[in-house]
Amino acid sequence: MEIKNDLQIKSFAEYKKVYKQSTENPEEFWNQVAEKFTWKKRWDNTLAYDFNKPEVSWFSGGKLNITENCLDRHLKTQPNRNAIIWEPNNPNEESRHITYRQLYVKVCQFANVLKNNGIKKGDRVCLYMPMIPELVVAMLACARIGAIHSVVFAGFSSTALSSRINDSSSKLLITANEYYRGTKAIPLKEICDEALKNYNTIEKVIVYRRTINEVSMQKNRDVYWFDELQKVDLEAPAETMDAEDPLFILYTSGSTGKPKGMVHTTGGYMVGTTYSFQNVFQPEPEDRYWCTADIGWITGHSYIVYGPLLAGVTSVMFEGVPSYPDYGRFWEIIEKFKITHFYTAPTAIRSLAKQPLSHIEKHNLNSLKVLGSVGEPINEEAWHWFNDNIGKSHCPIVDTWWQTETGSIMISPLAGITSTRPCFASLPLPGVQPALLDENGKEIIFNGQKAEGSLAIKAPWPAMARTVWNDHQRYKDVYFSAYPGMYFTGDGAYRDATGNYRITGRVDDVVIVSGHNLGTAPIENAINEHEKVAESAIVGYPHEVKGNALYAYVILFNPDDASDELRQEIKQEITRTIGAIAKPDKIQFVKELPKTRSGKIMRRILRKIASKDVSNLGDTSTLLNGNIIDDIIQNTI
Ligand code: PRX
Repeated sequence: MEIKNDLQIKSFAEYKKVYKQSTENPEEFWNQVAEKFTWKKRWDNTLAYDFNKPEVSWFSGGKLNITENCLDRHLKTQPNRNAIIWEPNNPNEESRHITYRQLYVKVCQFANVLKNNGIKKGDRVCLYMPMIPELVVAMLACARIGAIHSVVFAGFSSTALSSRINDSSSKLLITANEYYRGTKAIPLKEICDEALKNYNTIEKVIVYRRTINEVSMQKNRDVYWFDELQKVDLEAPAETMDAEDPLFILYTSGSTGKPKGMVHTTGGYMVGTTYSFQNVFQPEPEDRYWCTADIGWITGHSYIVYGPLLAGVTSVMFEGVPSYPDYGRFWEIIEKFKITHFYTAPTAIRSLAKQPLSHIEKHNLNSLKVLGSVGEPINEEAWHWFNDNIGKSHCPIVDTWWQTETGSIMISPLAGITSTRPCFASLPLPGVQPALLDENGKEIIFNGQKAEGSLAIKAPWPAMARTVWNDHQRYKDVYFSAYPGMYFTGDGAYRDATGNYRITGRVDDVVIVSGHNLGTAPIENAINEHEKVAESAIVGYPHEVKGNALYAYVILFNPDDASDELRQEIKQEITRTIGAIAKPDKIQFVKELPKTRSGKIMRRILRKIASKDVSNLGDTSTLLNGNIIDDIIQNTI
């Protein structure tokens, strides 16, 4: 059963027609999409929602297993097509090609391993793994038996891992002994041991041997992946899941407090990721699609694993980094596998654009048809570099705006259909109803005039997260309280006179660094852990390659302690509690932080100072201690 082409919009006129239908009658529209999938039982009710509670359910009463749609369904039509092509970090190691049939067998077998290790429907399983096919196998094996996977990015520290394990009360942890990224060896199992030193909910650890090196294994707790495989059958029935049963938890940082475990459910996520994948990327059956994200982020979940596999397309996975063994690595991979679709992040584009063009010229990139960008606004210069040097001006660039919380792409051109323009994510996908809100929270209705405001979404879409794990109140507070009756994205946007959207960036205390979403509060908490630190404030400032970098203002108990050594210690503290990605580029020791009379740090001013844009600091009259600003400016790094 091919679901491909009858889901794909094929012209701009059709897009306009379908978009209109999808907003006039969303239920009928999504029914037609959902009917293309394999359900064990059809749903009773397409959509029920109340954004004030907030509660959303799609396809309720429907029964299915998403892996039957990712795998079993394709066995009938294309068992021998590659589901995954994997390229290792080291180009001298063999790549791996895994067909849909082979992936099906691996998933069933590992589903039995999970069961053998005591995992049942509804249990949480934490995956802390490198970018290897076994990560996909483990995710789908969880879904096969109805366990909820919680993938933690392997760049996170042991402290970050343990807090995610305990927040989700995961029973099982799956990891690898170690792996290489570029020239660095990452001792994953050792980090896991550290994470499990204190109280934790883990009963078993399954270790995949990515390298031959031995690691310590704790008796009665740690087992090897390969040994476990020997104990089980190759057949695993797919558990019957309700459309609204959770499929996975994925943590994302918030502007305050601990990370939020966003909960995605089964039916809507399946329908939303497939529909968006098919339409944004317009893949054809023989294509080889490569998304360079890490599966530890939502982009990897939706557009390396679920979207492409649900669509029956070949998804290419890469273990390494763009700079190893040299900056030609991405272009070499594109040539090697004749990649047709290349989906990456602006930060990667900017760092590659700094390298000599000879890295590109050595490789044949003629196979490319579509380029994609995700994670942060793509600036004009990077867009043109990507278009001219990689797409050779004939590949549409889909600038896809979406979030961990949205589950699927929300605003994006459809490749080859929507006209593209640098910096513009362009138009909403069918079924997505964005709204721009002015400072009073009033919707700026589109009337052919340019407008700028906060970006919200007016109506539910199938792949949206349904709650924050164990904290529904937080889900309500963060997303549904700023503008009652709407989902608030945290982003600002500009809309031009033709209705095209340009995302202008976060309007809250989240900073996007190299495409990673970092809340400032957890980083400040980490800095404040240092015994010499009294208080701190983190802000973002523009950075040529990373998009934004972090700037830390730190007050010490004793100002005489200020030193480069202390700066290093602070960075180490952050690496230990969160991970290296959250390290600030600059740390300035200050006597005081500018505060309002109510005691709130004036980040707006600190952001301007960090950006060296001090000509107009705006209204500082509400500050309690405006006199310290000159001092901060004079000592800017
Ligand atoms: O600020 C937006 C930015 O990334 C945020 C979401 O981050 P995360 O949940 O980590 O998901 C990233 C991958 C989907 C958004 O609120 N963002 C993402 N894509 C774009 C973007 N900003 C501008 N243009 C984009 N294409």
